[in-house]
Formats: sequence, C-alpha cells, structure tokens
Amino acid sequence: MKILVTGGAGFIGSAVVRQGIRRGHEIVNLDALTYAANLANVAPVSNAPGYAFEKVSITDRAGLDDVLARHRPDAVMHLAAESHVDRSIDGPAAFIETNVTGTYTLLEAARSYWTAEGKPESFRFHHISTDEVFGSLGPTGKFTEDTPYDPRSPYSASKASSDHLVRAWHETYGLPVVLTNCSNNYGPYHFPEKLIPVVILNALHGRAIPVYGAGENVRDWLYVEDHADALLLVLEQGVVGRSYNIGGENEARNIDLVRTICRLLDERRPHAAPHDRLVEFVTDRPGHDLRYAIDPSRIREELGWRPSVTLEEGLAKTVDWYLANEEWWRPLLTVAMERRGKAS
Ligand SMILES: NC(=O)c1ccc[n+]([C@@H]2O[C@H](COP(=O)([O-])OP(=O)(O)OC[C@H]3O[C@@H](n4cnc5c(N)ncnc54)[C@H](O)[C@@H]3O)[C@@H](O)[C@H]2O)c1
Repeated sequence: MKILVTGGAGFIGSAVVRQGIRRGHEIVNLDALTYAANLANVAPVSNAPGYAFEKVSITDRAGLDDVLARHRPDAVMHLAAESHVDRSIDGPAAFIETNVTGTYTLLEAARSYWTAEGKPESFRFHHISTDEVFGSLGPTGKFTEDTPYDPRSPYSASKASSDHLVRAWHETYGLPVVLTNCSNNYGPYHFPEKLIPVVILNALHGRAIPVYGAGENVRDWLYVEDHADALLLVLEQGVVGRSYNIGGENEARNIDLVRTICRLLDERRPHAAPHDRLVEFVTDRPGHDLRYAIDPSRIREELGWRPSVTLEEGLAKTVDWYLANEEWWRPLLTVAMERRGKAS
C-alpha cells in the first residue's frame, strides 16, 4: 500500500513511517517541519526505495493537491498536529489553525483526490486522535468508543473538533474513514519537553524533576512502537466509519511513573544518592485532567491487537534508548529547556 503520512517527522508519525517501511508499504511523509519535527527520527528509513518526503503544511490546499496528484496514495494517515497541552494553554491559535483548519483542508484535498480517482472503496483516510477528547475520569471507569466527548483544554477541544469533521466527511460525502483515539505515548524519539524524556534527561543532568501538583494524575501509557503497530493494523483491517480506542493497559500515577524511571536510572547509572531525590512538586496545570484510562476491548476483540510490552518493560527500553542516543537528544535540549517541560 502507498500511504501518505502527515506529521511523519514527529514522535508517533515517525514510528509509523519506520514501521510502515519495514512492513513493505511505500510511504510519503508530509510534514511542515515545525519545532516538534525532526528528520533524524526517520533517518533509519530515509534511504529506503519506498520512502519520499514532502515539506508541506496541511493548511496549504494547493500543496496538498500537488502531493496527492503526484504520489497517488492508497491511504492517508493523518497525524500532523500541534500536540502539547501546555503550549495550547499559552497560545491556542496555532492549535485551531493546524488541528481544525488543517484537518478540514486535508479532508477537502483528500475528498477531491478520492473523487477524481473514481471514489475507490479501498481508499482510507485514517485520523489519529487522542483519549483527551473524552475529558477526565474519576478513580474508576474507562473510556470506550461510545463515551461522550467532553474536551477540557484548547488542545483536546481542537482534536475533538477534528474528529467531528472527519466523521462528518464520512457521513456527508462517503469518504472512507477510520479513526483512532489513543492514550499517552512514550518511547524512543520523544521530544524532550514531554514528561518521560524530561524525567530521564533532568535526572541524568542532576536537575530538578518537575511534577505537577502531587503527581496524582493517572495516565494509561502506550509504548509508541505498539501504537504504530495498532495504527497500521486499523488502517489495513479496520471497518470503515468505525473508531477504535488504543490503550497500553498500563495505568500509572505520574509520581509512580517518575519513581520507576528514577529506579531504572539508579540501576544503569548509579549515583551516590538515588535519582528520585530530584523530584520537585510544582504548581498544577490549570484544568489538569485527573485520570484517563482506555477500554481497548474493541481493537482487541475485532482486530486481535494487544500491547506487546508492560510499562516496566517499555520504560526500560526507553531509558536504554535515551542512554544510547545522546547525539539525537543533545541538540534538542535548548528548545526543550526553554519550555521547562513538565508532566503531561
Ligand atoms: N503523543 C501522544 O501521547 C499522543 C496521544 C494521543 C494522540 N496523539 C496524536 O497523535 C498525533 C501525533 O502526535 P505526536 O506526539 O507524534 O506529535 P508531535 O508534536 O511529535 O508531531 C507532530 C508533527 O506534525 C507536524 N506538523 C505540525 N503542524 C503541521 C502542519 N500544519 N502541516 C504539516 N505538518 C505539521 C510537526 O512538524 C510534527 O512533525 C497528533 O495528532 C496527536 O494529537 C498523540
């Protein structure tokens, strides 16, 4: 299959690109190369014969039309987005522009291309979204695909809007779409303003590890390579018009996650004092959702997918990757430190 991946130079998009090539797909990576992009993320496959890169914004209709006409993909996987909640609180405009207007522009370009191709039933528009559209849970319960939308941050509201647009383009125009909503991802190539790389890199440098509030917020952590695997499976086998929740079956409180990473570092880079001495509780983010948890029954029962690693195993792989890939993260530290990334 030839797949146009938007946002393929970002964290999750690049995992999809790398895995897509390994699975024998042709990949066109379309990315505007914002601060969050890094072409080093796709270096392992950028010389593969089936790989092409296009620097185009999803808000640029003419650019999208040109890329679609030249490459003639069988499917679009849409991951391009502004993705950092803290940035959405500081400056929501870019989130509306990229996540709402950009998704609308991409949908229209895809619809026009699909129509010109004779509306093939096999075409897919796969929209990648977040569990944050469902709002915040109390201590119990999980998000299913039928949970009503209740976004609470500019980021999640912009993603919820984009989900509604994608469903409307299916209902109104018949565009063959599939949607996925996933929990918090972690793993290699994660930009160092997000919680897990911040913890690893601050601990390594002996700097304070900032944790929001009392660290009680619970997230369901999904290893990025498992997520890419699930996304490609939904693209290949998911039912048109359907959405699938993807979770890691790995709920953890932020403070427990941070202490686990510190312990993994204690084992690998022993220090006179344990790394968790660096934990510093900081003023909570406004409107910080307490808990997200995914019920992944549909993707498990219909498509037979399950995560391949536990949180402990995935964190160990991630810590080992950051220890072995300093040349990747070192140049990004300046940008990340300006933001002084905190718990997401
Ligand atoms: N990271 C997570 O834990 C998580 C969880 C749930 C859902 N998601 C969703 O998954 C997708 C990917 O997330 P990520 O963490 O890889 O994000 P990321 O911020 O690492 O990467 C986003 C990519 O999109 C590109 N991009 C931004 N604006 C663009 C534009 N106008 N045109 C073209 N490209 C543009 C950026 O350059 C970057 O390469 C997003 O849609 C996000 O909402 C992420």
